[in-house]
Amino acid sequence: MAYNIDKQRLQSVLNEAYTKFCKDDSGRNADYIPYLASVPSTLFGIAATLPDGTTVTVGDCDYPFGIESVSKVPTALLAMHQHSPEEILDKIGADATGLPFNSIMAILLEKDHPSTPLVNAGAISACSMVLPKGNSDGKWNAIHNFIEELCGSKVEVIEELYHSESATNFNNRSIAWLLRNYARIYDDPDMSLDLYTRQCSLGVTARQLAVMAATIACGGTNPTTHRKVFDAKLSPRITAMMATVGFYECTGDWLFSTGLPAKSGVGGGIMAVVPGKIGIAAFAPPLDEYGNSVKAQKALGYISQELNLNIFNGYV
Ligand code: DON
Repeated sequence: MAYNIDKQRLQSVLNEAYTKFCKDDSGRNADYIPYLASVPSTLFGIAATLPDGTTVTVGDCDYPFGIESVSKVPTALLAMHQHSPEEILDKIGADATGLPFNSIMAILLEKDHPSTPLVNAGAISACSMVLPKGNSDGKWNAIHNFIEELCGSKVEVIEELYHSESATNFNNRSIAWLLRNYARIYDDPDMSLDLYTRQCSLGVTARQLAVMAATIACGGTNPTTHRKVFDAKLSPRITAMMATVGFYECTGDWLFSTGLPAKSGVGGGIMAVVPGKIGIAAFAPPLDEYGNSVKAQKALGYISQELNLNIFNGYV
């Protein structure tokens, strides 16, 4: 039986989640990228987009923050869209590493079999696969346009974040070249790394991320623009990846607790997809020790419970 979420009930639940958690001051902004440390820690917004294109919001949903690792989702989708899910599985993989997002150990352990585009190594590799091969500007246009189509609105690089991140991404540079050593990067390593760094530096709002999530939830058609962005058969693929590794080494705990396929970023954003039903995004900069937003996790967990959104709960 189809389950349509009532808009008024949705607004009430978002308001409740906001009120319940807005005073929670646990966690700390990411500080390994200087720009992120300077974002006001009290910002908090929750947005949700329904299949009819309605977006419901509470709090700071129009503040552009660094998309960071949430950008791994659109680039994985783009790589599957330009190639095929099978080619991505073969060249990158879809397995959780069970290790932190920027793990070099994971590459050393898995050098002869693939990982996933939703950790740094796989994301840099996915950037390397974006077409047109060898053409940095062309590849960037493809990534940028695809993200704008998913959001249904313009997004811009936060230049200060891009420079801050480029000046401090030593670990990611090692990852790019280690991938080259194992022939698991498919274009120039420095170019692929720069594309990854630039996509992480895009400024998005919680409202835009909710639309992106809803576009995935609606099988690739953006419910606000009604444009077909990607083939419906890719939605279950990307949702499976998010469910598997969206929170890195604590993904199992997250999925067990909320039943929501979701992807987090160190900018404080989390985007959750409930197939066919809703896209939800929450944003609050302070992170837990694993790099996931404390308040955004709590808000999404509460919303999942109140609206019965657990994707595994087909039993009632
Ligand atoms: O690669 C990095 O360090 C960042 N640009 C993105 C990391 C990130 O968001 C990890 N997610 N929670």
